[in-house]
Amino acid sequence: MSQPTFTVADIRKTFLDFFESKGHTVVASSPLVPGNDPTLMFTNSGMVQFKDVFLGTDKRPYVRAASVQACLRAGGKHNDLENVGYTARHHTFFEMLGNWSFGDYFKRESITWGWELLTKVYGLPAEKLLATVYHEDDEAYDIWTQEIGLPPERVIRIGDNKGGKYKSDNFWMMADTGPCGPCSEIFYDHGPHIPGGPPGSPDEDGDRFIEIWNHVFMQFDMKEDGSVVRLPAPCVDTGMGLERLAAILQHVHSNYEIDLFDALIKAAAREVWGETGCADLVNPSLKVIADHIRATSFLVSDGVIPSNEGRGYVQRRIIRRAIRHGYKLGRKKPFFHKLVPDLVALMGAAYPKLQAEAKHIADTLKAEEERFYETLANGMEILDAALDGGKATLPGDVAFKLHDTYGFPLDLTQDVCRERGVTVDEAGFDAAMEKQKAAGRAAGKFKMERAVEYGGGASVFTGYEHLEEAAKVVALYHEGAAVDALAEGQSGIVVLDTTPFYAESGGQVGDQGVICAEGVAFGVEDTQKIKADVHGHHGTMQQGTLKVGDAVKAAVDGERRAATMRNHSVTHLMHKALREVLGGHVQQKGSLVDADKTRFDFAHNAPVTPAQITEIEQRVNAEILANAPTQARVMSMDDAQKTGAMMLFGEKYGDTVRVLDIGSSRELCGGTHVQRTGDIGLFKIVSEGGVAAGVRRVEAITGANALAYVQGLEATVHSVAATLKAPSAELQPRLAQVLEQVRALEKEIGALKGRLASSQGDELVAQAVDVNGIKVLAAKLEGADAKTLRETMDKLKDKLKSAVIVLAAVDGAKVQIAAGVTADHTAKIKAGELVNFVAQQVGGKGGGKPDMAMAGGTDAAGLPKALASVQAWVAERA
Ligand code: ALA
Repeated sequence: MSQPTFTVADIRKTFLDFFESKGHTVVASSPLVPGNDPTLMFTNSGMVQFKDVFLGTDKRPYVRAASVQACLRAGGKHNDLENVGYTARHHTFFEMLGNWSFGDYFKRESITWGWELLTKVYGLPAEKLLATVYHEDDEAYDIWTQEIGLPPERVIRIGDNKGGKYKSDNFWMMADTGPCGPCSEIFYDHGPHIPGGPPGSPDEDGDRFIEIWNHVFMQFDMKEDGSVVRLPAPCVDTGMGLERLAAILQHVHSNYEIDLFDALIKAAAREVWGETGCADLVNPSLKVIADHIRATSFLVSDGVIPSNEGRGYVQRRIIRRAIRHGYKLGRKKPFFHKLVPDLVALMGAAYPKLQAEAKHIADTLKAEEERFYETLANGMEILDAALDGGKATLPGDVAFKLHDTYGFPLDLTQDVCRERGVTVDEAGFDAAMEKQKAAGRAAGKFKMERAVEYGGGASVFTGYEHLEEAAKVVALYHEGAAVDALAEGQSGIVVLDTTPFYAESGGQVGDQGVICAEGVAFGVEDTQKIKADVHGHHGTMQQGTLKVGDAVKAAVDGERRAATMRNHSVTHLMHKALREVLGGHVQQKGSLVDADKTRFDFAHNAPVTPAQITEIEQRVNAEILANAPTQARVMSMDDAQKTGAMMLFGEKYGDTVRVLDIGSSRELCGGTHVQRTGDIGLFKIVSEGGVAAGVRRVEAITGANALAYVQGLEATVHSVAATLKAPSAELQPRLAQVLEQVRALEKEIGALKGRLASSQGDELVAQAVDVNGIKVLAAKLEGADAKTLRETMDKLKDKLKSAVIVLAAVDGAKVQIAAGVTADHTAKIKAGELVNFVAQQVGGKGGGKPDMAMAGGTDAAGLPKALASVQAWVAERA
């Protein structure tokens, strides 16, 4: 049978259509930054957005789903960064086709449908496919051999061959903890002309047998201590690499030869070598660049900006690695960002956000390129020099210097070394890093707060309506472990069945307050979600002992909450006003709302001008004065989208969402808000500045804080007014008048100095002495500056006609010296040498032309002696 050729776009559509026809709901790709999941750096597979559904803590209106998910495997548990460019199939960014069952179908349907799609719809020859199963999974083995009819020699059991239970290729885990289970992988045989053995064989890492589709039978939740507990219901999670499937369907061996990469590699060659230089299209560096432009562009569009920590550092590493490969190909100035339009043309239709953010992406990449190009060439020189002479290992301190001074991430240095067969002394690098106390800046140190084990139900949150609630203690934790009681003085976490405490999310800080009963008080310092919908109250036992099962009163600190709400509500109004005044490209990049202020980061490429700030303040305050009631409505995501509500990127929204109308703004938001806009009080922006390339930050205040701020400004004005002895309203003209007076006085002083110097000049003429027929004068001028020195020098030369003159002026310990020689003596006596001779005696040096030279010194005490030495110096030369 001849296989039809599918483009990447056809493959996506065919996959989703197929699973839709099997009763699946098609779900959009979620951002690369997992929302509210502290255990994961990036979305590394399609199941990430469903993690809580597997765990049973989140519910969806469907039990079958399918998606094409943008994924990134760099810098986390699944990290392929090092392999990109060296193999036919590794990527940092890739797309995963996936289908899911949440407690609905299981192994049989998963395998049967997978087989049907591959062989009947995509038309892959059955004889080219083989499967693996987890070694204990007889059920999957039987389905493959008996129901699908795969010959037993093409169904391979894979055991715990990685040293320890569940350390098998056929046991899939999202991260070190979380949902996991045995899996069955479908492989494609690219044919005997390609080296490599079947899965489980010693040379399985070759390129002949390529895994294309993983079917995970999710049954467990892996705990931090390595134990596994059963999920509420068995589920299915599958993932198929779009690029690998495309390679097969398009009859090419390497993922980098498929339609999408072919176009990106040509674009990379064009940018690196110019229109004519496309000869070496198989150069691995082009693959690296083509891969990395996808990863970095998607990361920017999901809000990840290059930085020195966490996700931002992974972003920086990927961008710099791409630049280094361009540099290796001979490109010595920024080029990488010019690939963004090519990428948008190829993937913008499937990922509209990429299209919308194109300019911001290019600007961000360009800024990072410019930054790195400043140090790249020098760093490469140092690295080349260190690698000269055929050493087998690059010393750790060199790698560290490159990192610290030249911005070379360790893996970039390793990448260069690997090309030359050299390894890097990583231990030495770490030691040097430790020494500089820079440890926290490396991405490897991306540490998340330790999760606690909680198996109970969700907390009922009543904090939208109430600040106090009767509740029951359902769990307690001390130092990360579950306990039955917390004693006085101990700190820990309290979980209640019902709580009015808002847990930090959407930029709004968690509530503080107290959980108490008769003789018992637990001070809540912060509230954080332990997992979706479970609020953990962090704090300390101030009095008595709190036990699991206790009935308590939970009371939020109302004043702090009210101030926080004002700042949160005004953030929505400000976001809208920013878009109206600056333009629709303004997008929230991060926010922090607490009782003191709202801090809001957004994409915008220029400073916000004072006039724009004034306009934003006016718009927001007008909304406040309109005093409209706030409205919150809970509805399905689909309905919410129809309302036109603003959705914030990077947020993980459930299927029912809260649409919040505040004034004329409409956003999806789970935060707590004022009842009417008038509750906000005065709104004032207090600062504006840049935080990263293309990202600005404003800070603003409301209510009592704004009043205190204005009162503070007023107090300053009053004290200035008192100093200037003018009423506040007349400060401006009074200040202008004072400055005018200062200028007039300065002018007068200047004129007086000139007069003083010239009268001194007249007296000095008489002080000139004869040295071997030359008139020599060396004197100090009172109250002179450099200008007066020069002017007086000219006058004295005129009057003495033929002379050697040194003049000096003193200001504190500082000395200024001028030496002048009339033209008839410059053959023998050089003013430059003379001034230097004098200056050296007062702690300075200087030089200049033979007829006129200036110098400075720092030791006025030595001046009389220095001036006295001039006659002898001239005598030697005259
Ligand atoms: N989540 C599974 C994987 O990524 C399907 O392989």
